[in-house]
Amino acid sequence: MAAPDWSATPVVLAPMAGGPSTVDLAVAVAEAGGFAFLAGAYLTTDRLASDIAEFRSRSRSPFGVNVFAPSPDEPAMTTAAQAYAGRLGPWAARAGVELGVPRYDDDGFGQKVELLLRERPDVVSFSFGWPPAEAVDRLRRAGVSVWVTVNEPAEAEWAAELGVDGLVAQGWEAGGHRGGPVDTGAEQLPVRELVTALRARTGLPLLAAGGIMSGAEAAEVMALGAAAVAFGTAFLACPEAGTSAVHVHALHHLRGTTVTRAFTGRSARALRTTWTEVYGPHAPAAYPHVHHMTAPLRAYGRANGEPELVNLWAGEGHARLRALPAGELCRALGEELAAAR
Ligand SMILES: Cc1cc2nc3c(=O)[nH]c(=O)nc-3n(C[C@H](O)[C@H](O)[C@H](O)COP(=O)(O)O)c2cc1C
Repeated sequence: MAAPDWSATPVVLAPMAGGPSTVDLAVAVAEAGGFAFLAGAYLTTDRLASDIAEFRSRSRSPFGVNVFAPSPDEPAMTTAAQAYAGRLGPWAARAGVELGVPRYDDDGFGQKVELLLRERPDVVSFSFGWPPAEAVDRLRRAGVSVWVTVNEPAEAEWAAELGVDGLVAQGWEAGGHRGGPVDTGAEQLPVRELVTALRARTGLPLLAAGGIMSGAEAAEVMALGAAAVAFGTAFLACPEAGTSAVHVHALHHLRGTTVTRAFTGRSARALRTTWTEVYGPHAPAAYPHVHHMTAPLRAYGRANGEPELVNLWAGEGHARLRALPAGELCRALGEELAAAR
């Protein structure tokens, strides 16, 4: 299936599950000439269906939907998450919070794929794992452009083998989870080097993401071979985003980010806090077991304005974010990009 015409919409709103991605945010970006992703992860299939319907009732623009492909489940992950819960328990108890039970789930993957086959958004992107080849084939035959997130140059060949239409090249600077199919835990390439390395290995179109906060930086990455640029952190403080108040405040006031498995058992870039620095080093690679275990503590932190108890996802560029209405920000990014090119 043909990819969207990225040259018409080189400013892309990255999917941001867990609250920040809202239909309001996606509509504002799409109506300002950008390309918007809805985030399908953590939502029920019904809620994702109603988000898609609402987007379509408010915008005729093309759009994408991101879902998490299932992560591997191993019995040792539950045990490792329980051991980590033993360390976090006393800290959670001080806040009067009982931690959740570590468990596996696939985030309704099969149901979400069936929904996307019925709804046929212009693009479906998968992160966190390789989607089954059958899902890729069926979506493509239904006319959907299928993309996967990669963090490693060598993943380009696997993706080509799977038959996808394009790659989201997520650099090390990116806020939120490492989206590639394997959570190595090791430091990975920054976005410019990743795009350059991928460009040398594949002809697939690339959507670059990670630490990009201005149209001028987007132009640089596109000069290296990216077809378009996805902005995540840049949109977190827009009024249309569903980012919690404590998170927005921290993005403006805390300094320094780190990649940690502290909150979910999967590597993700967040602002440095006691949680990332003291407990993070003990967190196992066990997604989504750790995600479910820490969920009540994070919900408490968001509801009570306690930044130390929240997963404060942030890209390396967070100090430069602009708290503008999303349409205004999207237009500004587009103008800067056009001027730089
Ligand atoms: C709060 C937050 C939530 C995110 N959720 C998702 C998600 O659901 N799916 C996904 O593929 N990437 C997710 N990401 C990663 C973004 O799609 C994108 O790769 C990243 O934001 C780009 O880096 P930047 O934040 O420096 O712009 C998330 C990022 C943030 C900041």
